[in-house]
Amino acid sequence: MTLADIPRAKGRVPGLGHVPRLLRDPLGVLRALHAEGPVLRLDIGTMPMVVVTSAGTVNEVMVKHGKSFRKGRLFERVRPLVGNGLANSDGQEHLHNRRLIQPMFYKERIAGYAEVMSERAQALADSWSAGQRIDVDQVMGTHAIETLAATLFSADIGRPAVEAVLEDLPVILKNMLRRALAPQFTDNWPIWHAFDTSAARMRSVIDDVIAATRASAPQERTDLLSLLLAARDDAGVGLTDLEVRDELTTMLFAGTETTASVLSWALHHLAARPDVEQEVLEEIEKAVGDRPVTFADIPQLPGITRVLDEVIRMHGVVILMRRTIEPVTLGGYHLPAETEVLISPYALHRNPDLYAEPDRFDPDRWLPEHVARRPREHVVPFGAGNRKCIGDRFAWMEAAITLATILPRWKLRPVPGSKPPKESTAAMAHPTRMPMVVHPRGGS
Ligand code: HEM
Repeated sequence: MTLADIPRAKGRVPGLGHVPRLLRDPLGVLRALHAEGPVLRLDIGTMPMVVVTSAGTVNEVMVKHGKSFRKGRLFERVRPLVGNGLANSDGQEHLHNRRLIQPMFYKERIAGYAEVMSERAQALADSWSAGQRIDVDQVMGTHAIETLAATLFSADIGRPAVEAVLEDLPVILKNMLRRALAPQFTDNWPIWHAFDTSAARMRSVIDDVIAATRASAPQERTDLLSLLLAARDDAGVGLTDLEVRDELTTMLFAGTETTASVLSWALHHLAARPDVEQEVLEEIEKAVGDRPVTFADIPQLPGITRVLDEVIRMHGVVILMRRTIEPVTLGGYHLPAETEVLISPYALHRNPDLYAEPDRFDPDRWLPEHVARRPREHVVPFGAGNRKCIGDRFAWMEAAITLATILPRWKLRPVPGSKPPKESTAAMAHPTRMPMVVHPRGGS
């Protein structure tokens, strides 16, 4: 069977393909596709795209045939805008740089970043006052940027970069997908002015920090930028300044909105489930007490990790893209080279055949006895195979430290009468506005 035999998803409109159906309710459509088959064809206008919807076919793309794929069309368009870091690069270049950068995400390194994460979380908890109303989605967005920037740059040199990133990154993240999807002939249109200005400013500020850090004995520092500058492969070759800039930018793109979304949804679900919140609080009280949370505390907080695992199951990365670089057989269909393929971890994790009552928040799904029975290919919040997220441990450390710092001090509850947040389509199923009130623990 070939590409031509792959069943088309329902709701195609001549000329426009599935675009109208997708625009109406992208998350709903992605979630419904598994019922139509494990391998389907979607037409984006006239461009065919293969969607894999079962755990088995997703695994074939990401792991079994991982080397037969590259990132594909969207990434080609993103590359000139945001550079050629790990998430965008392919082939030998990706492999080389991934090997060089991987050690910066080993456990021992994360232990160092955890100190910064704990300081940032305390500063956040200190900044609130009793009865204050906060937009949790906004606050967590800023917190995730500040925390990642503080681990990327050394405190003495990096402050201007942190300020610039705080201002420019949200503008870039908000518009990146639209900018990448827009046709090339619109590149000089004024609608992109804010995006292009922010992207240029962020590049130039990061270049300045790289120059300042290089001039200041980076081998003696442990921030991520200094580690990137000091890294050498077996032949003694390191990264150029341009490559370092691209990697820093990529980490800022890949690691901020994602972590912020997880933290926001975690606070939302905990507010709705005081029983789970209470268990988590007891766990924190026992393991940490009222001192700052450390790296060594996190293994003693499995309840928080279960909350995070459940949040990312429910509200994870919406789509991942790939393109075949050689003929590949997928779910029994022979695909030629240059076929665009789409995966939705979000949809996979909401498939009722894999997760009973998939819309119910239930951290107990992640108790060891359940995890032991669940096939690994059902759980892909950070991807899998050669393109798996490099920052998964980093993100979970940051999120766990932030929750364990905030929760014993503050009880967050929705602003009375406010609308419950919905999922909006971004890189993740991001929450819409999430207004909450912070009450001191022990208070009303
Ligand atoms: C909750 C937080 C996060 C989620 C859900 C997440 C998810 C993902 C996923 C699904 C991928 C695979 C993309 C693909 O297969 O096309 C990925 C890749 C990546 N992530 Fe994350 N990520 C998170 C946090 C982070 C953080 C904190 C960093 C860095 C500090 C980071 C850096 C990266 C990089 C560099 C890649 C590309 C890896 C490669 O292709 O070699 N991510 N992430």
